[in-house]
Amino acid sequence: MTDTLVRSYDLSDRERLNALFTRAGADSPSGELWGHPASERTIYLDPYLRLDPRSVFLAEVGGELVGYLTGCLDSSELPSEDERMKRAITEHRLMRRPRVIGFFARAAFDLAWTRLRRQEVVSGDFADPDWPAHLHINVAPEARGTGAAEALMAAWFDRLSEAGSPGCHLQTLVENARAVRFFERMGFRPHGTTPLVPGIRYQGARVHQLTMVRP
Ligand SMILES: CC(C)(COP(=O)(O)OP(=O)(O)OC[C@H]1O[C@@H](n2cnc3c(N)ncnc32)[C@H](O)[C@@H]1OP(=O)(O)O)[C@@H](O)C(=O)NCCC(=O)NCCS
Repeated sequence: MTDTLVRSYDLSDRERLNALFTRAGADSPSGELWGHPASERTIYLDPYLRLDPRSVFLAEVGGELVGYLTGCLDSSELPSEDERMKRAITEHRLMRRPRVIGFFARAAFDLAWTRLRRQEVVSGDFADPDWPAHLHINVAPEARGTGAAEALMAAWFDRLSEAGSPGCHLQTLVENARAVRFFERMGFRPHGTTPLVPGIRYQGARVHQLTMVRP
């Protein structure tokens, strides 16, 4: 961690952060959505930069961005994931893109499959006044296991304390064992059920959402 610098996001980072967003989740169960970064950004990155750039932190090594954390002090201030998804589908005409259509077809199939088996599927955003804040973190492969992720979390925890936040949650995947271990070390614990996430596959298998909370 000696040469990792963690700092707040600045408008001038925009292009480089977009590039990092595209590669930072590589090789992880959370790294692959529908393969169209521009629309994925409008759901999972842009709203955070607009709402509260002071809750967005970057990790830099030798002047290169290697990791980022997008935080939100109060999740109810963000448009819901469903709304953001609908907007992205329209703005980016996603239903005209064969690869994206494949993703949504698989998601529809998963929904039918879980209904048949009476299994739980992800629905709606997590909302609990005990843990109103949430975060996403992604560190590029070359900076994993170096302490960069911990340094990003330390900056976020300082921000939460400074804002007097009562608690923070996050959502990861049961199958993302490395991330779950990391979050547990950071003081988070599993909370609630583990519903199926439609459409996503990791190593060919379906994946399940895991909510974690930290008072
Ligand atoms: C999840 C993620 C943020 C965790 O970060 P990470 O750096 O991989 O965290 P790890 O716990 O695996 O690594 C920490 C390691 O760094 C080591 N470390 C900590 N501080 C260090 C320092 N100052 N110098 C060197 N190494 C250090 C720790 O000892 C630990 O090693 P160990 O596991 O052998 O004990 C990261 O793997 C990632 O971004 N993955 C891809 C995307 C993703 O899954 N995001 C989460 C979606 S919810």
